[in-house]
Amino acid sequence: MNRRYRKTIIAGNWKMNKTASDTKKFAEELKPILPRAKWCEVVVCVPFVNIPIALKAFKDLRVSVGAENLYYEPSGAYTGEVSADMLKDLGVKYVIIGHSERRQYFGETDITVNKKVHAALEAGLHPIICVGESLEQREMGVTMELIALQVKSALANVAPEKVRKCVIAYEPIWAIGTGRTATAEQAAEVCTAIRATIRTLYGARVARSITIQYGGSMNPKNAEELLAQPDVDGGLIGGAALKADQFVDIINAANQEQ
Ligand code: PGA
Repeated sequence: MNRRYRKTIIAGNWKMNKTASDTKKFAEELKPILPRAKWCEVVVCVPFVNIPIALKAFKDLRVSVGAENLYYEPSGAYTGEVSADMLKDLGVKYVIIGHSERRQYFGETDITVNKKVHAALEAGLHPIICVGESLEQREMGVTMELIALQVKSALANVAPEKVRKCVIAYEPIWAIGTGRTATAEQAAEVCTAIRATIRTLYGARVARSITIQYGGSMNPKNAEELLAQPDVDGGLIGGAALKADQFVDIINAANQEQ
């Protein structure tokens, strides 16, 4: 982390978990244990149907609400889809874009990710753009090239004043939901390379202002070491964000540093 230049963001990604009632319960559990003074922004990204109740339940806790996806067209005949404006109008602040599960199961590509990033920014949302390599790609030694390509494609034609609103989440696919975390060195190496890619595209000032998160089996045990890396500015947390106490432990780890 480097709070002098950029925000630390701890974001939960609930994926397809929890009902509306569970969402309310989670907020109630969070309330007494959430630290009052927060040196990091706390975000909870929830399934679409839980957004209204999450906005209500988390408002007093100063926890921002994010969505897990959007569709890039502004409106029209796209049965089952949700637009950026619909999210913005509700009061959503963040939206996860290009999560590896969406790339793997729902056919998202670097091109659709780029379209979604534009749609999110156009609506005034902050995209959390996910990038990451598979185990095979890591073993082939192409991680750095692949991540640079994902970052460049996601940000294609994004203006410098807009790119500051983006968050990048480095999520090695082999570490997601597997309990196998990247070592702090591995996470640091890729997050530093992501910042270097942004520096090449937008210059040093923009690069140092962008929040880059690590995601993939982040938990209360490994959070402190991961967050101590200068280019790791937060976490995108799946499993451990479903339990209020574990989520708060990670928030506390982010609050402690520096
Ligand atoms: P995990 O998920 O923390 O359960 O590994 C992270 C993510 O997919 O965002």
